This record gives sequence, C-alpha cells and structure tokens, in this order.
Amino acid sequence: MTAADVIDCCHALAACSEETGRTTRTFLSPPMREVHARLTRLMEASGMQVRMDAAGNLRGVYPGMHVDAPRLIIGSHLDTVRQAGAFDGVLGVVLGIALVRRLAGRRYPVSLEVIGFSEEEGIRFGVPFIGSRALAGTLDGAVLDRTDADGCSVRRAIANYGLDPAAVADAKWRGPTLGYLEFHIEQGPVLDALGLPLGVVSAIVGQSRFAVTFTGAANHAGTTPMDARRDAVAGAAEWITAIEREARGTPGLVATVGRLDVVPGSANVIPGSCVATLDVRHADDEVRTLTAARMIGFAGQVAGRRQLLVHVDPRLDQPAVPTDASLRARLEAAVTAAGYPVHVMASGAGHDAMVLAPLMPTAMLFLRTPAGISHHPDESVLEADVAAALRVGAMFLDDVAGVS
Ligand code: HGY
Ligand code: MN
Ligand code: MN
Repeated sequence: MTAADVIDCCHALAACSEETGRTTRTFLSPPMREVHARLTRLMEASGMQVRMDAAGNLRGVYPGMHVDAPRLIIGSHLDTVRQAGAFDGVLGVVLGIALVRRLAGRRYPVSLEVIGFSEEEGIRFGVPFIGSRALAGTLDGAVLDRTDADGCSVRRAIANYGLDPAAVADAKWRGPTLGYLEFHIEQGPVLDALGLPLGVVSAIVGQSRFAVTFTGAANHAGTTPMDARRDAVAGAAEWITAIEREARGTPGLVATVGRLDVVPGSANVIPGSCVATLDVRHADDEVRTLTAARMIGFAGQVAGRRQLLVHVDPRLDQPAVPTDASLRARLEAAVTAAGYPVHVMASGAGHDAMVLAPLMPTAMLFLRTPAGISHHPDESVLEADVAAALRVGAMFLDDVAGVS
C-alpha cells in the first residue's frame, strides 16, 4: 500500500457513517460493521489472522518466525466524534496494516498485532477508551451498564453487535509484549507551524471530564418576569464564562464545554435543566485536578446565587502519561534514519496509548495536521507525510524486530 492508498482507504472508511454526507461513527454502531468488514478483508489479504474481541476491538495478528515470538502491537481507534474528519484514529490502523503488507510474507522474529479499538472518543456512552480499557483489563464493569441516548446499554450494544458481553474480560491482553506503537495525526497546529512532517510524542496530557447538570424551573418565556426565573441555561452560561476565565488564567491548561443538553429545549420555554460537559486538560496532574475542582466549585456558587440545583457526574480522571523512553528513543532513531528531523512534543489530545502505557511500553508518532484542523470534516493529511510515516514505521519495525 502506498501513501495514496492509505489516504484513499481512510476516505473510503469515512463514508461509513451514522449520518449521510458527514462522518459520525460511534461504538459498535451499524456503520462500524462495514469498517470491520473492509479492514478484515485488508488484514486477511495481508497475511493476518483476524478476530474481534468481546469489546469490539478488531485484532489482526501477523505471526512471527516462531509460534511464541514476542509481539509488537500497532493500533488506534475506529470510532469518531460527530462530524469528524477522515483520519483521527483510523489512519493509525490503516498504517499498521500497510506496514504488515509491506512485509509481503517475510517473517520477523517478532509477531505483529494490528488493533482497531472499538471506542476511544466517548461519544455514544459518555465515557472514552472502552476498547483500549478492555484490552488493558481496566474497564470498570459499571461502564457496561451505561446507556446511550436511546437507553441502550453498552452491554446490550455489544450483544446487538453479535458479541458476548460476558466475555469482555477475555479481551484483556495476556502475555509479554514488546510494546505498543500508535500513529496518529497531531490534531493541533504545532507541526504545521514548524513545517515538519512528523512528531515523536514525549507525553500525553491528563484529562478530567465531567457532566454537570443545572436544574431550575421550566416556565413560560413570555409571562414569567425576569426576577422570577430559575433558568438552567443562564446558570450554565455564567458558569461557562467563569471556566473560560479560569482556563485563560492558567498557563498550559485548556477547558472546554463541548455539549449542552437543554430540557425541554423549546424556544419559548425557560430551560428547566441543562447538562453541560466539562473537559479539562493539562500536562501536570496536580494543576489539572486542582483547577478542575475549582471549576466544579464555581458550579455550586452559581447554582447558589440562582436558586438552581447542581449535580456533578465525574466521567474521566486520566493522568498524564509519558511514553516509554526506550521505545521513544528507537522511534527517534527511525525518524533520523529515514532522513527526517526529530521533533519531540507532548500530545494535547488523548489517545489509546495512554490507557496501555501502564501495561506495556508505548510510543507514538504524530503526522502533521494541516492548519491544525481536527475533529472537523476539513481534517487532512499530506501524502508526503503519510509516506514519511510509512518509511519511519518500516525502519522502526526492522529495528524492534532486530533485522535492521
Ligand atoms: O479528545 C481527544 O483528545 C481525542 O481526540 N479523543
Ligand atoms: Mn479524537
Ligand atoms: Mn484519536
């Protein structure tokens, strides 16, 4: 597979969507079947043995020279955010398959496993990393009972997909591994601004996620005086302004309220309740957790001033994760050997690598994101950068496999 083939494959998979004309593909949703079918065919044509674990992770194994050869994992996620681009996640899986295809039957002293994780974004059920947490053996059983907007539980979604929710624990990685390599678009402006094709990830910043519910009183928009209202959205708006002020005043911290669910949601009704999501990130876990706690405290203060009720549902407390120094050094060496400048950088985006890092050595290679646009239909990659990632990946694999 050439770089153009990789890009074409990602574009083709982007059409597998819950929405016509846009890319939205959540955990084990119907369009994921087509993605799994196409990638299964591609994996099998590349000499891989393919299976799906009970968490919906697509797993293709390319055997090594001997049956108990140590294994290197290459992976990323196959789900997307709403109205996504064509490369976030899926590019890392397709690049992994392309690197296996390049071997054309040649056997390494190590085996390779390419994994397409079922869910990293946390869109359908409000919690991220279901697939990689199942692989890491850190998936909280309570997650299986979380329900989506239609009242379907994770457990039911797994069963509806034809998998056995009782076997999710079997998805856990067993046995030694050489480590995990994830190719991913940077999703930010750094490499583009520097004019560099690739970045080697030093660490992935930590994330705190919450759902905060403000509850007031729905009432008639036309007859209720302004001083007689308990407006849930007005309260959320005051809170969001306080969050933005706090984030702007904290160097290196980002905070986002990405979703508001308003009830009843009619233009002529004062909102009775409003669920606001909060996403807080920083490279330093103490700064992140203390600032997130302050931001949650603001919600209580606003609610008190406005006679609202407030309920906070913590969704994620993911520590910042450094990549593995030794594996990163080998990746840097491969970048140099392939003739590219080495740029080491932190990741502001979360990745499955952060879930696997406590279990195995992890490394990540970023590809430039033109204009820094991601989580958006205009997300793109440059063919030359994909070609660079293939060259670096091939050298990295030869090195880790001990054949360079
Ligand atoms: O939200 C993130 O950082 C990633 O794109 N899932
Ligand atoms: Mn993403
Ligand atoms: Mn991603």
